[in-house]
Amino acid sequence: MTPSNVQQTLVVLKPDTVQRRLIGRIVDRFERKGFKITALKFVQLSQDQAERMYAVHEGKEFYERLMRFVLSGPVVAMVLAGPDAVEVVRGMMGPTDSGQAQPGTVRGDFGMGQPMNLVHGSDSADSAANEIAVFFEPGEIVEYTLDTDAWTHGG
Ligand code: RTP
Ligand code: MG
Repeated sequence: MTPSNVQQTLVVLKPDTVQRRLIGRIVDRFERKGFKITALKFVQLSQDQAERMYAVHEGKEFYERLMRFVLSGPVVAMVLAGPDAVEVVRGMMGPTDSGQAQPGTVRGDFGMGQPMNLVHGSDSADSAANEIAVFFEPGEIVEYTLDTDAWTHGG
């Protein structure tokens, strides 16, 4: 088996996921895939947190609508750990426009458009480090062994 590039990535279940009572179903997908949850919280984003999370989009035509959406209700933020976590999570999410997303992806199975596309995932290891810091103190990331790691990416 090839050595695994274990990474951490930030996933946010957006306000539409919470309002539509889909938290459990979406967390379940990431757990079943084999990711390890190393931090998780239910939170109403502050304006400052929303701005830091989406700083790269400031000034774009959809920015104000995006801010209204992500601030419209509570979200679930979590850190997932696993091999190539950034890329694998992005693949499981599907493309930004849920209407174009393939069945089998979160956005393809549960969404119809944007900005309400259910889930956010970091798009690089650098973004992940910055975004994790928006939600979690270092001490809130829990290091532990998951015995099933041996059966998902061990060997
Ligand atoms: P995310 O950052 O939330 O994981 O989504 P993403 O990488 O797939 O998409 P990104 O380009 O980073 O856009 C961030 C979020 O802004 C909203 N959006 N609306 N044209 C539009 O109406 C539009 N474009 C983007 C979506 O909520 C998108 O997830
Ligand atoms: Mg993005």
